[in-house]
Amino acid sequence: MSATSTDAAVILPAARLRGELVVPGDKSVSHRALMLATLAAGESRIGGAGDGADVRSTAAVCRALGAVVERVGGAESDTGRAARVDYRVVSPGVDGLREPAADLDCGNSGTSLRLFAGILAGLPFRSVLDGDDSLRRRPVARIIEPLRAMGATLHARSDDSLPPLTVIGRHPLRAVDRWTPVPSAQVKSAILLAALRAEGRTTVREAVATRDHTERMLRARGIGVTTERLAAADAEGRNGAVAISLEGGRTMAAIDERVPGDVSAAAFWLVAAAIHPDAELVLRDVGVNPTRRAIIDLLRAMGADIAETAAAGSPKAGSEEDGVGEPVADLRVRSSKLRAIDLGPADVAAAIDEIPILCLAAAHASGTTRILGAGELRHKESDRIAGTTHGLRALGADIEVDGDDLRIHGGRPLAGTTVDSLDDHRLAMTFAVAGLTAAGSTTVLRPGSASISYPGFFDDLGRVGS
Ligand code: S3P
Repeated sequence: MSATSTDAAVILPAARLRGELVVPGDKSVSHRALMLATLAAGESRIGGAGDGADVRSTAAVCRALGAVVERVGGAESDTGRAARVDYRVVSPGVDGLREPAADLDCGNSGTSLRLFAGILAGLPFRSVLDGDDSLRRRPVARIIEPLRAMGATLHARSDDSLPPLTVIGRHPLRAVDRWTPVPSAQVKSAILLAALRAEGRTTVREAVATRDHTERMLRARGIGVTTERLAAADAEGRNGAVAISLEGGRTMAAIDERVPGDVSAAAFWLVAAAIHPDAELVLRDVGVNPTRRAIIDLLRAMGADIAETAAAGSPKAGSEEDGVGEPVADLRVRSSKLRAIDLGPADVAAAIDEIPILCLAAAHASGTTRILGAGELRHKESDRIAGTTHGLRALGADIEVDGDDLRIHGGRPLAGTTVDSLDDHRLAMTFAVAGLTAAGSTTVLRPGSASISYPGFFDDLGRVGS
């Protein structure tokens, strides 16, 4: 049960959780679908995109660059709110894009800012990428450096470290071969998108493989992208490393595609049901891409009862279409007895957006969960180490922070209080889910941020909880 105003959402414990949910279209895939449709000449149709504020920011930037981007309805979830939206994009193609008349507003969206920087690096005009106060605190040096090496000119505030980010693009760019400084799909994708406009073959090497939507979606549009697993430990002792390469100067085809449900949104329901004593939820049409599904496997390792049924026609690992389409499944999750696990830096990279909700699961698990090497969380929409620990401690959880490492001593009962989302969508939803099982009433301040990735979240919460 919940009551939401713009200032606060009040969550009461739910006696039971039951129902079926259609989560929003995947945010990462939705951004890329709009961007790639803008780079391809002709008409592209995108089915089932996410309708959060971040994806809308990307749509607006695509329009400012000269593409026609129209919303054409979209399936309504049975909550009555549109969980998904369909788009029709008509673009003159990459060579027909134009210098924007004003600064490009990426709102709260780091993915929009970083990926557009890669696109704009190869377009021969000047543009400025900007956003809200949170986005203006997020690091950009990590993309400035490689894009400069490719021949673009970029400048940013605070000694080239923070947005707004000015990009003066150039065509053709130079191909590069480089390691990404931190495991980041945004940095990798920015380089790959710039590489489309480079002469020669660009290779991005990652110490830990990050989400591969860009690679899959470029392949689906006829661009040959190779992914090579590097030896377990290379000369510099890196582990699980991959090298992703593409040849520049290829034309991209406009295609129609369907966006899978967002596993990062599904994660809130997976944890809600797993920690609740009387729960069974079914989540339809969730993306289970191997580079995104870590939260499902980590929760299972903690003992969560999650059953997965692959959707008909979903590409299977090792099959011919592996590495092109996005695998999709229905998930059924039931009340579970959770136990602690250990996460290392590679797990953190694989579940980067799900760590706050995983911390809530850990607070309900028996034993001590250790999450090591979580420093990247400080650079998200808020400092998520500070925000998560502050909120969960206020609710009664026992969490220690030691530098970039977290130790969550699980099993202490949580009790409702007032917690601040810091205007961060993932924290707002984490604390709201905590309220479904915490004793008494939980007040989440600034809950509206949920609409960054999941506009119908509080409606869904009210519907499945009784
Ligand atoms: C994203 C990559 C991740 C993630 C973000 C979306 C993407 O960021 O946190 O929500 O769509 O590529 P980093 O790659 O910077 O870790």
